[in-house]
Formats: sequence, C-alpha cells, structure tokens
Amino acid sequence: MSTGDKFYAYKGIGGKVVKSESELKELKPEEVLIRITHASLCYSDVHFLDSGFVLGHEQVGRVERVGSATEGFQVGDVAGYGCNHKACLVCRECLSGADTLCSSKLKRMHGSAEEGHHGGFGKYVTMDYRFAHKIPEGMDFSSAAIFMCCGATTFGPFFKYGIQPYHRVAISGIGGLGHVALQVARAWGCHVTALSSSDKKREDALRFGAHEYINTSNEGWSEGLKPFDFVISSNNAQPQYDGFVNVLAPRGSLILLAIGGSLVATRQEHALMLEFFARHKITPQIAETMPLTEKNLQSAFDRLRKGECKYRFVLTH
Ligand SMILES: NC(=O)c1ccc[n+]([C@@H]2O[C@H](COP(=O)([O-])OP(=O)(O)OC[C@H]3O[C@@H](n4cnc5c(N)ncnc54)[C@H](OP(=O)(O)O)[C@@H]3O)[C@@H](O)[C@H]2O)c1
Ligand SMILES: [Zn+2]
Ligand SMILES: [Zn+2]
Repeated sequence: MSTGDKFYAYKGIGGKVVKSESELKELKPEEVLIRITHASLCYSDVHFLDSGFVLGHEQVGRVERVGSATEGFQVGDVAGYGCNHKACLVCRECLSGADTLCSSKLKRMHGSAEEGHHGGFGKYVTMDYRFAHKIPEGMDFSSAAIFMCCGATTFGPFFKYGIQPYHRVAISGIGGLGHVALQVARAWGCHVTALSSSDKKREDALRFGAHEYINTSNEGWSEGLKPFDFVISSNNAQPQYDGFVNVLAPRGSLILLAIGGSLVATRQEHALMLEFFARHKITPQIAETMPLTEKNLQSAFDRLRKGECKYRFVLTH
C-alpha cells in the first residue's frame, strides 16, 4: 500500500545517473521512516552506474515516523544507515553476528531497489529499525553521512583482522576512504604510512595522521622500507598488488577494501565505529557541499571519477 507521497531518487543505469520518481510506502510495524538530509558520494556508486541500483549509500537524516514494533527510536532522532539493510537475524551467520553474510533471501545490500529503499539520493527511506544507526549527539550531519559507508568500511579491518597498536600499517589510495583510514590507524595507535600515486597529497596525509608518506610512482619506492604488518588498499582501481605484497612483513596481510561487498561492515562494527569516531574526533574533509539536484549529482560523479574530489562530496536535500 502506498501513502502516495512522491519524490525523486536516482539510479545507475547504462553508466549514467538516471532520475526516477519514487513513492513513499506504508510503514511496516518494524520500520522507521527517515527523511534524509545529507548524503555523500562514495566511489562504489561509480562502480554501480551500470547496475540498475538506486544510488547513494552514505546518508543520515531525521526520523519522521516510527512503526509500532520498533525499539529505541523516536521522532526527531538523527539516524543513518549504510550498505547493510536487512538480514534474517536467525540463520547461523546472523546468530554469530555476521549479518552481512546472512544466507537468507531476506538479505539486502546496497541499493538493489527493494521496496522502501530509494538510496541516499532519494529523500525518504523506510527501513527495518534494527539496521538503522543512531548518530551520536554532537556529530555533524555531513561527517555522520560519510561514516555510514566510508567510516564503517575503514574501521572494519582494524576490528576484525586483529590490528594492534604495535603494528605498522600502510594505507594505499588516499581518497575518501584512505583519508579516513589514516585517521583511524593513527587513533588506533599504529605506525601509519600513506602510499599514494603522486606527491600531491603529502601535506594532507601527514595532517590526517600519517607518520610517513611514500609516492609509489617513484621507481624503487619500496627499497629499504621497514615492512608493514598490514597494507590496506583503498584504491578505486586495481593497484600493483605485487608491490604491496613485497613490502609485507612475514605473516603480514594485504586487505583490499575495493573488493565490492566483501568488507561491508556488520551492524556491530558500525555501532562500534560511531562510538570510536566520536571519541577520537575523526573528521572527514568535505570537498564541497551542494544542494541535491540532478545537475549537481552528475557533476559530483564526473569530478569524483576524474580524481577531483578532496575528499568527499556531500549533497543536501
Ligand atoms: N568493500 C566495501 O565495502 C567498500 C566500501 C566503500 C568503498 N569501497 C571501494 O573502495 C574504493 C575507494 O573508494 P573511495 O570512495 O575512497 O574512492 P576515491 O575517493 O576515488 O579514492 C580512491 C583513491 O584511489 C587512487 N586511485 C585513483 N585512480 C586510480 C587508479 N587508476 N588505480 C589505482 N588507484 C587509483 C587515488 O589515490 P592516490 O591519489 O593516493 O593514489 C584515489 O584517491 C572504491 O573502489 C570503492 O568502490 C569498498
Ligand atoms: Zn561506499
Ligand atoms: Zn541470516
């Protein structure tokens, strides 16, 4: 059943951003209705331009209605959600907390245009309250939006792969994810190295928390390096993996954030990330905030693709 309220959302079809009309669905008892106010643009949406998905998966807004079977949310709360929308909560994986690996048909990720989901660039979402996250008091809306994918994805490896403060961690690809990953690694207590394909981001990377900066386009960049326990790649295309493997310490790990979906954060990681980021004042750098129009969205996609975003675009409804 529909409430009949209409608004625009955006889909990735044939390599383009396509505007489409969406309709607000009737709220189910276990759902909350969020009016999205801030949405940011992650490079994964560039990968999704051919997918038919609704676009936008980093967003926050205000809770406007709460279903009769929800817990913990009130009208007016600030809430957001990321890639992980729905799981059965009763299969083996869900019971172990790995809800992103849910084996049920109920599982929903990203913007596969299921009922009620219009992506972060649509104005409203109705969703299961157990997959929405309350935003900590005082966290600004733009940062919180960015954390819904970028924050959760960069925090995840520190939590699930046992990264310790005494480890040497290198972050490769200093973009949206990379510039937040540097801050997380520093706050986690690690030795932090930024690996970037030019000299352009040196100052920025040191400001975000890197102890050292290496330009990987220089011949012989890895010679004489003290090896890393972890190299985390947030490159948006395949980097030279051989080079990264060569700089790993024995039993070191190469973690690829760019392998779509494999590292999407569970709800537990997401909740811990918000606490950790608030405590350590992790602050994403916003390249530009613009009103959400078709033209602005298209231009944000074009500029992100050309590498002209330092480091996240935010669009406001
Ligand atoms: N697994 C997940 O759940 C998940 C979640 C979010 C994002 N992702 C993926 O993570 C990747 C990064 O996303 P993002 O939003 O941070 O993108 P981004 O802002 O575009 O940053 C990516 C960085 O990769 C480097 N780069 C640019 N062109 C490259 C090329 N041709 N080959 C290798 N590296 C290149 C650049 O860093 P330098 O200038 O420092 O070289 C760039 O800043 C994307 O592939 C995205 O789909 C995965
Ligand atoms: Zn993303
Ligand atoms: Zn399940």
